[in-house]
Amino acid sequence: LKIGALVSGGGTNLQAIIDAIENGKIKNARIVTVVSNKPQAYALERAKNHGIEGVCIAPKDFSNREAFNLALIKHFEERQVDLIVMAGYLVVVGESFVKHFRNRIMNIHPSLIPSFCGDGYYGLKVHQAVLDRGVKVTGATVHFVDEGTDTGPIILQKAVEVRQNDTKETLQKRVMEEAEWMIYPEAIRLYAEGKLKVQDHKVIISE
Ligand code: GRF
Repeated sequence: LKIGALVSGGGTNLQAIIDAIENGKIKNARIVTVVSNKPQAYALERAKNHGIEGVCIAPKDFSNREAFNLALIKHFEERQVDLIVMAGYLVVVGESFVKHFRNRIMNIHPSLIPSFCGDGYYGLKVHQAVLDRGVKVTGATVHFVDEGTDTGPIILQKAVEVRQNDTKETLQKRVMEEAEWMIYPEAIRLYAEGKLKVQDHKVIISE
């Protein structure tokens, strides 16, 4: 399975996936390219540290959104990428991209979708909203990407308790360590083993 990653920041989810491939948890798969919209994203460093191509393809380098989406499609097609994983990616990709890779793009969101998701809910903002609402449980969701924001078929979710003295930072850390970094590699393993099927906008897992 050839994987392409889309990143914007620190790349801790990318690292979790790289580690899972290198320690054999995910078999018959390799990340062939990592694309960031930010030239300085540490995620690109992580890729290079593991001998993986890391490039910057940014919307600002194109005359319009469609040209940007076509450049992304071309980049991944040239490398015969089978699965695209968004890991801390903050750019909303266009319909042309989603249609081209229908049910072959995954994303991770740091809440239990459909709570605390959609436009404006990303990074620490998600955890602040969780604390402001006073929910006792939060978590992370891996889903296939469709034309909406955080609206695609849900693949895996993992719950994490919210503690009385949590700050948005301590909560983000726990959600990443105890949920994101666990379920993202697992979702990719299931995909690599052909165990995921999308039916009527829901994901069926055959174990
Ligand atoms: C984190 O908030 C994560 O929940 C979300 O993007 C942010 C950074 O992720 N997916 P990463 O460290 O760049 O993978």
